[in-house]
Amino acid sequence: VVTVICMAVCYLVCGIPFGLIIGRLSGNVDIRKAGSGNIGTTNALRVAGPKVAALTLLFDCLKGVLGVLIGRWAIAAFGYGAGASIMDPGASGDVLLALVALSCLYGHIFSPYLKFHGGKGIATGVGVLFGFCWPLALLHLGIFIILVAITKYVSVGSITTAALVPVTVYLLFPQISLSALAIWAVLGWTVVWAHRGNISRLRAGTESKLSFTKRATK
Ligand code: G3P
Repeated sequence: VVTVICMAVCYLVCGIPFGLIIGRLSGNVDIRKAGSGNIGTTNALRVAGPKVAALTLLFDCLKGVLGVLIGRWAIAAFGYGAGASIMDPGASGDVLLALVALSCLYGHIFSPYLKFHGGKGIATGVGVLFGFCWPLALLHLGIFIILVAITKYVSVGSITTAALVPVTVYLLFPQISLSALAIWAVLGWTVVWAHRGNISRLRAGTESKLSFTKRATK
């Protein structure tokens, strides 16, 4: 019951579409109506500029951190994963935590406030990873930054780091149960799926490169 309540809270909190709200508040821009149509940081930068993008990144990331911290607190408070770490073998804490992380991501990607549409889960995903294990988050951030710097495509960094989630989680927590690892895989690969439009554009050579200049074109 605690897990279900936690998952519902995380889903509802992480469903808040900050990119859309911040875009509207700062000049009534609906960032869904231009650029890639996404409600995330990259499109906020493209459509509404660096200030809106920075705030979107901050709030999308913080909601992921908050969601996972709520989950960690509840799991520990109700006796799961007691001991040195939630990830210890033998406790079901690793599965519960993975479910909480998945609820955060699904809240953002399938937002209940946007008729189950939403973002692509990168900023929220990084927040989730920070709340879960900060070295893991830094590892993903490092891979992301290197790939974006080399290719100039944000989506290449996003897709690669998301696809790697089950690999890096396993490398850092080799004791993880198969069920928990499968949930982390679903999480990462859902983010890849959310980038299916970007994948088509990359293949067609029409994906836009990272630019710090506002361009509100479709
Ligand atoms: O995290 C989103 C990014 O990978 C792609 O965003 O707006 O170019 O589809 P966008």
